[in-house]
Amino acid sequence: SLRRSTTGASSAHLLRRFYSSDSAPERKVAVLGAAGGIGQPLALLMKLNPLVSKLSLYDIAATPGVAADISHINTRSEVNGYMGEDQLGKALEGCDIVIIPAGVPRKPGMTRDDLFNINAGIVKSLCTAIAKYCPHALVNMISNPVNSTVPIAAEVFKRAGMYDEKKLFGVTMLDVVRAKTFYAGKAKVPVEGVNVPVVGGHAGITILPLFSQATPQASNLSYEDIEALTKRTQDGGTEVVEAKAGKGSATLSMAYAGAIFADACLKGLNGVPDVVECTFVQSCITELPFFASKVRLGKNGVEEVLDLGPLSDYEKQGLESLKPELKSSIEKGIKFATES
Ligand code: NAI
Repeated sequence: SLRRSTTGASSAHLLRRFYSSDSAPERKVAVLGAAGGIGQPLALLMKLNPLVSKLSLYDIAATPGVAADISHINTRSEVNGYMGEDQLGKALEGCDIVIIPAGVPRKPGMTRDDLFNINAGIVKSLCTAIAKYCPHALVNMISNPVNSTVPIAAEVFKRAGMYDEKKLFGVTMLDVVRAKTFYAGKAKVPVEGVNVPVVGGHAGITILPLFSQATPQASNLSYEDIEALTKRTQDGGTEVVEAKAGKGSATLSMAYAGAIFADACLKGLNGVPDVVECTFVQSCITELPFFASKVRLGKNGVEEVLDLGPLSDYEKQGLESLKPELKSSIEKGIKFATES
């Protein structure tokens, strides 16, 4: 029994060493737009992640304060703040992951597409710098409209000759987070165990939650319930925009979703097996060039884009009706990037 307890203690020790931050590889993560509504809580959550060794906080204003504040937290990563375009290169150098929540958010009555004119230019200039200073980094695009900003990033990277479709991700995790929460509430199951894939894109009807594949399966939900859950997931962002009444869109839940997605990317990079999350990527699973679906993450970013799986008739209908809008948002992004 003495021997057994010794063995037990040493394997527990090994396990701890394996998972503890001092044996995790060095990883530099940058947040661009770090002083914003999403940027600040996202920076905080990334500071709490033991897989991060360097946290680089960039914005056009106010980053010194945010960085000084966050840097006092006694966790692994070293925090640095960078402000203004002449410091962008330093912020990006050596990055493994760049998270982009830079740009303007919606106000009541606006669609995500109404943000296009301002955010497209911001994303284009940030991606030009990524191509130059950290061409191998994974890019997590949060700035809206994601359906267009991801294609813009791809075009900028192609032009720079370093585009790797395995490394560009539109962050649609908040749609998944909402679908899980709303489903658990309606089905009256514990939310921690719930999984719901969300596919398509990230705006209105292009957001398609697949409740027919939700786990645990709930037998107590009617067709009307599923329809209401689908609409609520699609309009979740607008629900927050209206409640904030002019003070912006989702920031705290988005920071949570962004942090979960970046953590999944870090795990993939570190070789953790079977990391699967929904995200908007270059894709062959439909006729559209970009599409959100379940993706297996690995050491090079996208390891496998998983197909949609079996859909209910309601979901098949939703899939067909989202395609024209998603297609035109993708084309709008490509057009902007190639013509400007
Ligand atoms: P915010 O206005 O509070 O913060 C944006 C930050 O970006 C500001 O600190 C601003 O100084 C900074 N910024 C502006 N131009 C910049 C540049 N060229 N380089 C670096 N930083 C720059 O906005 P919030 O609420 O944080 O939203 C940010 C973006 O995230 C918006 O486009 C919003 O639509 C999007 N969003 C995306 C979601 C998603 O699910 N993917 C969910 C919620 C918001």
